[in-house]
Amino acid sequence: MTVDVIEMDEQAAYQEFLNAYPEYKNTAVLDDLRQREYGRLDKTQQVYLDYTGGGLYADSQLQQHLSLLQNNVYGNPHSINPTSQAMTDLVETTRDYVLKYFSASPDEYIAVFTLNASGALKLVGESYPFSPGCQYLLTFDNHNSVNGIREFAKANGANVTYAPLTTPDLRIDQGRLNELLDTADPNHNNLFAFPAQSNFSGVKHPLELIDKAHSKGWDVFLDAAAFVPTNRLDLSQVKPDFVSLSFYKMFGYPTGIGALLMNKRMLKKLRRPWFGGGTVNFVSVQAKKHYLSDNEAGFEDGTLNYLNIPAVKFGLQHLEKIGMKTIGSRVNCQTGWLMDQLLQLEHTNGKPIVRIYGPTNTDMRGGTVTLNFYDPEGHLIDYRRVEELATAERISLRSGCFCNPGAGEMAEALTAEEMVTSLNQKATMTLPRFMQIIQHASHKSAGAIRVSMGLATTFSDLYHFMHFAAQFKDHTNHSLGQVTFDIDSCRVIRDGS
Ligand SMILES: Cc1ncc(COP(=O)(O)O)c(C=O)c1O
Repeated sequence: MTVDVIEMDEQAAYQEFLNAYPEYKNTAVLDDLRQREYGRLDKTQQVYLDYTGGGLYADSQLQQHLSLLQNNVYGNPHSINPTSQAMTDLVETTRDYVLKYFSASPDEYIAVFTLNASGALKLVGESYPFSPGCQYLLTFDNHNSVNGIREFAKANGANVTYAPLTTPDLRIDQGRLNELLDTADPNHNNLFAFPAQSNFSGVKHPLELIDKAHSKGWDVFLDAAAFVPTNRLDLSQVKPDFVSLSFYKMFGYPTGIGALLMNKRMLKKLRRPWFGGGTVNFVSVQAKKHYLSDNEAGFEDGTLNYLNIPAVKFGLQHLEKIGMKTIGSRVNCQTGWLMDQLLQLEHTNGKPIVRIYGPTNTDMRGGTVTLNFYDPEGHLIDYRRVEELATAERISLRSGCFCNPGAGEMAEALTAEEMVTSLNQKATMTLPRFMQIIQHASHKSAGAIRVSMGLATTFSDLYHFMHFAAQFKDHTNHSLGQVTFDIDSCRVIRDGS
C-alpha cells in the first residue's frame, strides 16, 4: 500500500484495487457468499488469513450434513443390515464423487479415505518397496509428511536425494532436477515426490514434471494438499501415481478425512507392512496367513470415519457450485494486490519494511504469501511478536516454518553446517537457542509470517491486514516490545502446518 492508499478509506482503496484488477468484479458471487455463508467471520470481527492452514466451511455444508444425520439411521458400514447398507452406499457414493471431482477414471484410479494428507503419504511411505538400489527423490520444497517418507526409504536401504530450489524465487532448479531424474535405475523402484503448490512460498511447481519423471523411470507422488483448495486438479490430464490431500483444507469441514488417490498400477507394487480390521479378504489364525483386499479396502485400516464421509460430498459440491476458476481468479487478484502493496511499504529512511519469500508476481504462484518484517536498519523483526500483535487485532495468520523446513532453509540460505550444529543439540534445543545459532553472524530468520487467502477472503480482509502491516513503519524489535509467550520452553522449531 503506498502511503496514499494507506490513508485512503476502504471504499476508495477498493476502487483502486478494482482498477488494477478489473477481473475481480467477475468474482462478486463470492462477496455475496461471504455474507450468506461465512457471516460468522464478520459477526465475530475476525480477519482470517490462514487458509493454507485450514479452509473455512460454509453454513450450508453444516446444515446439509446435520439434516442427513438427523433424518436417517446409520450404522457401521460393510454388513448387510439396513443401517449398515445405507452407510456403505453413502461411503461408496462419496468415494465415486471424489474420483469424479478430480476427473479420475475409476478404470485408472482408486480413492482411499485417510485421516488427512499425512495419512495418505504415510500409507505409501510404509508400503512402497524401497530396498538397496532404490531411490527416493524429493524437492527441498516439501511438507514434513513428504520429508518423513525418507525414513522408510533409509530404513530399507534406499538412497534419498533432495532436488534443490533456485533463489530467490524458490522454484525447482530444473537443470539439477533433470540430472537427478536421469539417475533412475530401471531395475529398481524409484519414487519422486513434489508438491503441486508450496505451502511455504505459494509457488506452483510445473505439473509437466509428472510426465517427465515417468518417462525417466520414476513413480510420482504429487502432494496436492495446498494446491486443490484454489486450483482444479484434473487427473484425466495429469497422471501422477499417488496424490495426497486433506478435505478440510479445501472446504473447512469435516476435519479428519483426507484421501490418497492412487493409480491402480501401483496396487501390485505396494506391500503393506501389516493387515488390520477391514483390510483383508481372507485371514486365518491357525495358518497364520492373510490375503489383503486388492482395492482401496486394503489400505483403510479399521472403521472409517463413516458419519463424516458424506460431508465430503457436500463440500465438493459447494466448490463446484462456485467454480474453481472463480476461486482461483479471485485469489490471484488478491495475491497480486497484497504483494504490490507490501513491497511498497517503506520506513522513513526509504528502507523496505517487508521481505517476501519466493515470487513477487502472480505468475505460477498461488495465494500463500510468506514474509518477514524488518526495522529501518534492516534487522529482522521477531516473527513471533508479529503474530502476537496480529492476534491482538483479531487477525489470524501463521508464523514459523509451516512444516516445510527445506523451503525455509533455502529461503534464508541456512547452511547445512548451521542445521547440523542445531540438530546436534538434540532434544535440548530451544527456539531461542536455534535463533542464536543462525542469527549470530547474519540476520537469518528461523521462521516467517504466512498470510494465505482462500475462497471466503474479501478485499476488506486484505485492507485490514495492510493497515496492520503499515504500522511497522519506523519500528524496531525494541519499540514493538518483547514476545510474551514462554519462549524458553518452545521446542517446536521446524514444524507447524
Ligand atoms: C503441502 C502440504 N502437504 C501436506 C500437508 C499435511 O496435511 P495434513 O496436516 O492435513 O496431513 C500440508 C498441511 O499443511 C500441506 O500444506
